[in-house]
Amino acid sequence: MANTYTDRKLSARYPTDLPAWKKLAGHFREQMRNRTLRELFSRDKKRPEKFGLEAGDLFLDYSKNHLTATTRKLLTQLARQADVPAAIEAMFAGDRINKTEDRAVLHVALRAKIADTVALETAGVPEVWEVLTKMESFVEGVHSGAIKGSTGKRLTDIVNIGIGGSDLGPVMASRALRPYWKDAMRFHSVSNVDGTQLADLTQELDPETTLFVVCSKTFTTLETMTNAGRARAWVVENLDELAVQYHFVAASTNHEAMDEFGIRSDFRFGFWDWVGGRYSLWSAVGLSLALVVGMDVFRAILAGGRRMDLHFRQSPLDENMPVLLALLGTWYNNFFGAQSQAILPYDNRLDRFPAYLQQLQMESSGKSVRMDGKPVRCDTGMIIWGEAGNNAQHSFYQLLHQGTRLVPVDFLLPARSSGASQAQQDLAIANCLAQAEALMDGTKDADLEPHRVHAGNRPSNTIHFDELTPDVLGQLIALYEHKVFVEGIVWGINSFDQWGVELGKRLAVAKLST
Ligand code: F6P
Repeated sequence: MANTYTDRKLSARYPTDLPAWKKLAGHFREQMRNRTLRELFSRDKKRPEKFGLEAGDLFLDYSKNHLTATTRKLLTQLARQADVPAAIEAMFAGDRINKTEDRAVLHVALRAKIADTVALETAGVPEVWEVLTKMESFVEGVHSGAIKGSTGKRLTDIVNIGIGGSDLGPVMASRALRPYWKDAMRFHSVSNVDGTQLADLTQELDPETTLFVVCSKTFTTLETMTNAGRARAWVVENLDELAVQYHFVAASTNHEAMDEFGIRSDFRFGFWDWVGGRYSLWSAVGLSLALVVGMDVFRAILAGGRRMDLHFRQSPLDENMPVLLALLGTWYNNFFGAQSQAILPYDNRLDRFPAYLQQLQMESSGKSVRMDGKPVRCDTGMIIWGEAGNNAQHSFYQLLHQGTRLVPVDFLLPARSSGASQAQQDLAIANCLAQAEALMDGTKDADLEPHRVHAGNRPSNTIHFDELTPDVLGQLIALYEHKVFVEGIVWGINSFDQWGVELGKRLAVAKLST
């Protein structure tokens, strides 16, 4: 399909030139800069109702932010003036919005139903369901024992070998969904180039029951190919050359390289150039996860992602959760001058979610050149960091409460424990709510010594959900994916390339060859 969207619309104007940006600057200066959160709450007792939003199984409480109904109106005007609605449609239509790589951006097609007609005319999209079916029969074959190791033993230990998006997604999600692991199945991962992860794993694993899933879109990534080569040697040393065909599968787009490695054709799971690395968990890159949790659970994650897609596509801007999160991010980043944002999940199973979002947000939004090649005129991606629950409280919350920097926070808060004691989850909930209150309200006692004073006035979002199910996890991931997309559209940057990681890679290779 002819694509004219990128030339016609994206980056058409600097966000700072948009009328809504100018109004927001005035609104910030005159009405918001010196107004405290406490004041906002005392003036309007109904803030929690007015600034709360449900989408699927998620409820976003954004009442504890420096915003009023006017702020929200101006922010949504900014999104409209930046052509966010048209950009959303362009992505779902399969337009080549990743301009520097001349690619469509269609991770949304990986979780769509055929009936959603997401870019069905784009090459590769109609194959999505075939690959899912192939994954399903492979996963079931491993679970039933129809697919075995070379010595006839069942494959129980799944080792994902990948890095970046080919590692963080499977690792994060396998930890998040620990209660869903099939009996006897275990998940492991190897990513870093120094080799220690694999060295430790090979001490504990039995090669006869181990299946390596080599995940690499390009199948050329130094770290992954080094680790895969070492794992291959371990299999050959402990079993034999033929065993490689039983103990290695791959998710990749590079068939030539898979041929060379010795991955047999029925053990290859493809994806397409329109799946970015950091958006690839939904594709065959999710195979190691699916092998451990089962295909029904993997499909439930996809269903959750799709629910968020439908919400994102269909909701008006001021009732659109990813759009609101993006606009709040822009508000703090570009008007309040915040440099970082903390992601604080109160379920330890989400302990790698902040790291996952680091790649998603910082690789996507760490850009200083616009889509049209011109320098940006405002700050772009914030530094994303975080840690799970009370571990974070006993580590860096001191800075959140009393430091000199403004750090907006996203709390992620399940009501129910995912497979542990509810009494302990209730402790986690009490802690999370207490932290949000302390950040906002601070201390009220006038006689406190200075070092005991909490000034408060520090904003936070809280994303509530009932329990961390596969469906909810899918919704959370898609929520942040779309948040990042909207921010990029407002700033006029390409959120889908990552040229900034190339130079260091090239220099490392050059150093090795000298
Ligand atoms: O670090 C850059 C990057 O391209 C990421 O975007 C990607 O997730 C990672 O490398 C791994 O790439 P591949 O899947 O091709 O091995």
